[in-house]
Amino acid sequence: MGSKLVGCGSAIPSLSISNDDLSKIVETSDDWITARTGIRHRRVLSGDETLRGLSVQAAQKALEMAQVTADDVDLVLLCTSTPDDLFGGAAQVLTEVGCTNAFGFDITAACSGFIIGLTTATRFIKGGGVRNVLVIGADALSKFVDWSDRGTCILFGDAAGAVLVQACSADEDGLLGFCLQSDGNGQKHLNARTLNDESILSKTNGVPGFPPRKATYSCIEMNGKEVFRFAVRCVPQSIEKALEEARLPASNIDWLLLHQANQRIIDAAASRLGIPSEKVISNLANYGNTSAASIPLALDEAVRSGKVKKGDIIAASGFGAGLTWGSAIIKW
Ligand code: ACO
Repeated sequence: MGSKLVGCGSAIPSLSISNDDLSKIVETSDDWITARTGIRHRRVLSGDETLRGLSVQAAQKALEMAQVTADDVDLVLLCTSTPDDLFGGAAQVLTEVGCTNAFGFDITAACSGFIIGLTTATRFIKGGGVRNVLVIGADALSKFVDWSDRGTCILFGDAAGAVLVQACSADEDGLLGFCLQSDGNGQKHLNARTLNDESILSKTNGVPGFPPRKATYSCIEMNGKEVFRFAVRCVPQSIEKALEEARLPASNIDWLLLHQANQRIIDAAASRLGIPSEKVISNLANYGNTSAASIPLALDEAVRSGKVKKGDIIAASGFGAGLTWGSAIIKW
């Protein structure tokens, strides 16, 4: 039994924030941000836009391309670290899309979430009883950005992207190799930690033994240099391991599609893998780092623009908080 991608879709918020806009709130400049990151604009949720809404739109577009109806979907994986509800968002998304026969759950792994979602989809399909899996990568890190920290607020944007993974014969297999890795030692370099705000008293009527506590989260805290080094070191190794599983040499890669965090990370990884720049997919200039959404968003744009064609081999890799990282070799 194999599995392949048969549709993709994406959605972005309406509000666009430019580097010049950011230079009005922190000491920075378009030149600095463009040179150090490659980012020029990012989209941010505003008004009544929600992560759920973006996820629903992206999923509907993927179903439309796949020509699969919502009630034929068996499983919905919402890869996100920023659901509208702490308990997860997959159930609400699948209900709104109309996936009446599906069950769903969230996968929390920051910018690696989508690759882990793809891997999970193939495992469910191989296990049997599941034929169509919607994998949605969606994040709204803008909710956790400290807009006074110029080291992080310039990087992130909000978006959703989705693919439909479908069961197929082993000959048609389109998900050829994976590599997933994690290392909690690096959590100190990138996190949005739980805080126990003891200043907010819960109503315990003064009875001892009940700690007054309300959990909140810190804004994103990051040591950019360490995350940069980690990505440049680990991503090429991870892609090489996924290629090994796929039994393909790097020369077979038609497209390198990395998590869109920083153009310098993408360029360094491509150069270590010996992949020329014309084979590298990049759209972070327009959207910044959209975490779990960045790979399916870039894939959707590349497919709809005709860049990625049927049968092309894509080496995709996500990396980020946890630390987590992972790669997938995909035949479109
Ligand atoms: N504008 C102007 N100056 C700035 C800005 C800014 N926005 N941000 C930092 N600086 C200054 C610093 O204060 C520092 O000044 P100093 O030399 O006087 O101390 C100088 O620029 C250099 O700062 P560095 O942090 O060393 O700059 P660096 O070249 O490392 O670039 C960046 C910073 C862009 C954050 C880079 O390290 C990076 O992209 N790292 C990877 C981050 C990443 O990808 N994170 C997301 C992972 S995905 C996830 O899971 C959420």
